Amino acid sequence: MLSVVLPSGTRVCLIRRGEQVTALRDECTHQGMPLSAGEVLPDGTIECPWHGARFDCVTGQVRRGPAEDDVAVLTVLVAGTQVLVGEPPAGQVPPPGQR
Ligand code: FES
Repeated sequence: MLSVVLPSGTRVCLIRRGEQVTALRDECTHQGMPLSAGEVLPDGTIECPWHGARFDCVTGQVRRGPAEDDVAVLTVLVAGTQVLVGEPPAGQVPPPGQR
């Protein structure tokens, strides 16, 4: 797991599981704490270290509270040794604080 900041200022949590790389907004939807400080669990979720919410690493869906909202997923393209990350597609979960 790796925390990065896009040129737009968006904080992103990059997660590598095997050959798969996914990206979630690095901000828990419960109280906005960084998910990158958490842990990726064997069931494919990331657990927020602050109050234990869990989110699917691929879809960003809430799997366990206290968070109620999904976390935004960003698009990822692996091109050779580069990992390109894009902002959430239109219509996806907006970042916390912009709902
Ligand atoms: S800030 Fe993540 S569970 Fe509370």
